[in-house]
Amino acid sequence: MPVITCIEDLKRLHKARTPKMFYDYAESGSYTEQTFHENTTDFAKIKLRQKVAVDMSNRSTATDIIGFPATMPVALAPVGLTGMQHADGEILAARAAEKFGVPFCLSTMSICSIEDVAENTTKPFMFQLYVMKDQEFLASIIERAKQANCSALVLTLDLQILGQRHKDMKNGLSAPPKFTLPTLLDLATRWRWGIGMMQTKRRHFGNIVGHAKGVGDTSSLSSWTAEQFDERLDWDKIAKIRDMWGGKLILKGILDPDDARIAADFGADAIIVSNHGGRQLDGALSSIRMLPHIVEAVGDRIEVQMDSGIRSGQDVLKALALGAHSTWIGRAFIHGLGAMGEVGVTRALEVIHKELDTTMALCGERNVKDLGRQNLLLPEGFLTEYGA
Ligand SMILES: Cc1cc2nc3c(=O)[nH]c(=O)nc-3n(C[C@H](O)[C@H](O)[C@H](O)COP(=O)(O)O)c2cc1C
Repeated sequence: MPVITCIEDLKRLHKARTPKMFYDYAESGSYTEQTFHENTTDFAKIKLRQKVAVDMSNRSTATDIIGFPATMPVALAPVGLTGMQHADGEILAARAAEKFGVPFCLSTMSICSIEDVAENTTKPFMFQLYVMKDQEFLASIIERAKQANCSALVLTLDLQILGQRHKDMKNGLSAPPKFTLPTLLDLATRWRWGIGMMQTKRRHFGNIVGHAKGVGDTSSLSSWTAEQFDERLDWDKIAKIRDMWGGKLILKGILDPDDARIAADFGADAIIVSNHGGRQLDGALSSIRMLPHIVEAVGDRIEVQMDSGIRSGQDVLKALALGAHSTWIGRAFIHGLGAMGEVGVTRALEVIHKELDTTMALCGERNVKDLGRQNLLLPEGFLTEYGA
């Protein structure tokens, strides 16, 4: 097994082992990719305060995320087509998460279905919902998540219309891939991926194909999804979904303090400060820059979680110190999955956990719950430059 010391190592292997169209699908943002890049470069602008001669024994990274215990304040974010990064990807990632003791969230646009993941795991996982126009499908997918005993519904609010990702169009992204000459040439060098895919039956959008009316194959699927995202989604519809679900609810994609206030008044269990990993509104501010403004607006009224740009335990620490209760990772675990399947996801979690623990100690803290602004040095204007 190669020596993996950081998420960047997993990223390199992911690139080498996974078909270009799926690696590119993960490693891209919308349009100019400005927000995608700033999600990570803004983390790098935040510096840490070193503290010495403080007792650093008996450290703890344990926390609870909407009331569920977790070994660290990190969850695996919903990622569409995870089962195309590696055969049976959603099941493998969910298993790695449950063994590590952190939450896993299954995307609506997953390859393995809700039922499939439930059958192949032992602990409840969260389910992420995209709101579709087809009311029958919407009701049935919520019911299926209930039947599978999902622990929370993560309602994504920032993708009712799709931000364009140039690479996906140029690569002709589809699941499963269409066998064009460039795709075949590319696949010839990714034999591990190909063998895995030949051995699994899970190669289509498992939550949708066979469940939504008029979607029997992948060619009808792309037009169905493009038409199906409900552009009329508003707070009234969100309230209806909350009532249909009846369980714990997390609102994902909040990036503005006013929206955060509405979400807190609405009474969800948590919000995720997120710009969808820079894949939607290109030109939006990075999540880590918006986070402190949102915490200031609603911090004590609702659990504030964040994602977008986290590639290390240091990044997790910075988000917690700026007021996030917990964080989510997308690409960081997808790189692990594409590199080495379940072992790779476990490795990604181990890397981030170790970095978080060591960095916390060097900052003179012993418990993730004690992290705060005292641990950070922010560049001048970091909080005020854009007047958020
Ligand atoms: C390849 C990819 C697919 C994604 N698919 C979904 C999805 O189906 N549903 C969703 O709510 N978010 C989706 N996201 C967004 C993630 O849940 C998360 O917000 C984002 O990855 C966080 O940024 P990071 O990748 O920099 O950690 C996706 C992200 C990526 C990279």
